[in-house]
Amino acid sequence: MSSPRPGRPDAKGRRAPKRPDGGTARHGGDGHLPAVGEREFKSAMRQVASAVFVLTARSGEEANGLTAASLCPVSTEPPLVLVSLNRDSAAERLIAESGAFAINFLTEEQHRIARLFTGTEATPEERFAEGGWDRLVTGAPVLDGALATFDCQVEKQISHGTHTIVFGRVVAALSLDEEGLIWRDGSFRRLAPVV
Ligand SMILES: Cc1cc2nc3c(=O)[nH]c(=O)nc-3n(C[C@H](O)[C@H](O)[C@H](O)COP(=O)(O)O)c2cc1C
Repeated sequence: MSSPRPGRPDAKGRRAPKRPDGGTARHGGDGHLPAVGEREFKSAMRQVASAVFVLTARSGEEANGLTAASLCPVSTEPPLVLVSLNRDSAAERLIAESGAFAINFLTEEQHRIARLFTGTEATPEERFAEGGWDRLVTGAPVLDGALATFDCQVEKQISHGTHTIVFGRVVAALSLDEEGLIWRDGSFRRLAPVV
């Protein structure tokens, strides 16, 4: 598949960003790879719709979590998932300490919980004050009424760039037949059928 030329839409209406100096390719610090800026990368990623979950972890008395969308199923036998976490996030440290985490995919009605677990406004106590929280196998907080829950034990971690990829072995799973919360272009959304 060919890439659109800078400034001109291709047959599908896509445009590649124009460089101020009129050039067509930039080269970054990694050998000869073209450099894609953070803005370009984020702007393309914003268009991708994702299911929203709250990842949680507990170490001793301390529990916290974050709203995320980076889950990828890896294997069914054994059941493995991976998530990508900012190395600065509180949850990344709690996972490293406890060796466990829980994934709580949210229903449409749980959008307030998604807002609480992102940004710096709410304390961990305020985050967990919304909704009912329980434990399954690992002890990581599990949300009552979540769309799908995966309680995971850490199998492996790989840090690269700004993030750590954490592989989790699923040791308990629950689900409900509800509509899931979606994130796209900076806002939480509902799923609608295509007719
Ligand atoms: C829809 C959505 C998806 C997100 N996905 C991720 C993700 O996959 N990994 C990540 O590290 N942060 C992700 N974030 C950002 C975190 O929620 C945010 O940085 C959070 O404040 C980190 O928690 P902390 O400040 O308590 O450490 C996402 C935010 C939103 C709104």
